[in-house]
Amino acid sequence: MSNITMEKIVSLCKRRGFIFQSSEIYGGLKASYDYGPLGVELKRNIKDAWWRDMVHGREDIVGLDCSIIMHPDVWKASGHLAGFSDPLVDCRNCKERFRADKAPGAEPGATVTYAEGGKSGGKKLSGTVDPRGYVCPVCGSPDLSPERQFNLMFRTSLGPVDPLQQIADAAGELAALDSKSRMARLAEIVGQSAVYLRPETAQGMFVNFRNVLDSSRLKPPFGIAQVGKSYRNEITTSNLTFRTCEFEQMEMEFFCKPGTDEEWFAYWRDTRLEWYIRLGIHRDRLRLRDHEPSELAHYAKACSDVEYFFPFENVVGTGEWGELEGIANRTDYDLKKHSEYSGKELEYFDPDTQEHYTPYVIEPAAGADRAALAFLCDAYDEETVITPKGQEETRTVLRFHPRIAPIKAAVFPLVKRDGMPEKARAIIGTLLKEGINCFYDQSGAVGRRYRRMDEAGTPFCITVDSQTLTDDTVTIRDRDTMAQERVPAGGLGEILKQRIWGEK
Ligand code: GAP
Repeated sequence: MSNITMEKIVSLCKRRGFIFQSSEIYGGLKASYDYGPLGVELKRNIKDAWWRDMVHGREDIVGLDCSIIMHPDVWKASGHLAGFSDPLVDCRNCKERFRADKAPGAEPGATVTYAEGGKSGGKKLSGTVDPRGYVCPVCGSPDLSPERQFNLMFRTSLGPVDPLQQIADAAGELAALDSKSRMARLAEIVGQSAVYLRPETAQGMFVNFRNVLDSSRLKPPFGIAQVGKSYRNEITTSNLTFRTCEFEQMEMEFFCKPGTDEEWFAYWRDTRLEWYIRLGIHRDRLRLRDHEPSELAHYAKACSDVEYFFPFENVVGTGEWGELEGIANRTDYDLKKHSEYSGKELEYFDPDTQEHYTPYVIEPAAGADRAALAFLCDAYDEETVITPKGQEETRTVLRFHPRIAPIKAAVFPLVKRDGMPEKARAIIGTLLKEGINCFYDQSGAVGRRYRRMDEAGTPFCITVDSQTLTDDTVTIRDRDTMAQERVPAGGLGEILKQRIWGEK
């Protein structure tokens, strides 16, 4: 990965239409991104591959599509209202706000130097690292505020009530209260209409457990899967789409009999790692990392992360492991909590053994945006090639697995005459009807056209030339080997489908 940098990835994303800064013409919005024409195809292909492998390819998993705004009691029961928070710290030197648990570590008692105000060229200051053992991630200062918990859920209000108006109406009453009681009263006012944007898709599947059980003929072990947006008011956002406030998750809750959970945990841990490898990610840039007991979420008995080695810049150089997906053993925590808060019975009755039990849940929870970023970084390559004129040239190529490549094939007429454009258009028409996303390009030398497609990650380029007009054959050029072969135009659809989806 020596030649990959985030700068190159960001530049390619903008230049080729994978990812744009959101609201760019207004100066952009921090950590908000839009997927361009190529990016939307890439992400859609990843989600489709996930759905195909996790739902359509199995008999024991069904899908669901739940509301983003759910009953607020869902978040009380799940523990998110009380506990879904990060430790927030302010740097008194450069005013940066950051997550304490993500800050660079430093030896307590050590003396560190930093620039006043965090400005380059600012006066050199020094300070002592306190017992918390970290410094500001931006300026390196140890002059930091106390940690305070910050809830990551986005709150909004449902219905025609304006909480601001209610607060204004209660201004007199609020003014008479001490600050603690005032905060409690304010929370009560806001709480009357408060709802939250879901911070994970998982809860929709837990609260629908009974509905799915009653409406399908499934019995444990079985899974419920969902792909959709989640929202978190992240304190620290960074590295393009790696950590944003709005993102898409691909989650599956696998309900199994207590006692079989450890076996299923091991199964899903391996299966999910294998999924990324099968879709072409380099094995040596992936790892499974088991959580330390102190890292485990409040609901988890065990958790392993599938991590990818991203080309992120950090204090020690380029390259950092980042989580793509967490596989957690959530035990019976969620179903029991929802049963307790809703008063509804969420057990399974096994007619064969006459047993009632609350299933345990194994959850593979992946992020579609992080996966897309990992596939982009992993596919990026630069190589030196010799042009037909004997000159050296750098070829930038995205070596996507054909299944997730945004455009599957490009069709070129060698020249813009002699009926070649018409033939190329006819071929595109046939391929599009067969569900193969294609692109037509007739401008510039054919070598330039190949390069443009290499940069877009298009695995196959089909060229219509003078021979096509006599024997109805075309050439297929392979993006990775650059080798060309001649095949009958009529058989193209089948050949491409086999190469793209053949090993589903
Ligand atoms: N239901 C469990 C759960 O939500 P998580 O580890 O918090 O677990 C699962 O999230 C996946 O969602 C992560 O592995 C990551 O891929 C993605 N994800 C979480 N927060 C994200 C964020 N702020 N931006 C982008 N992706 C995020």
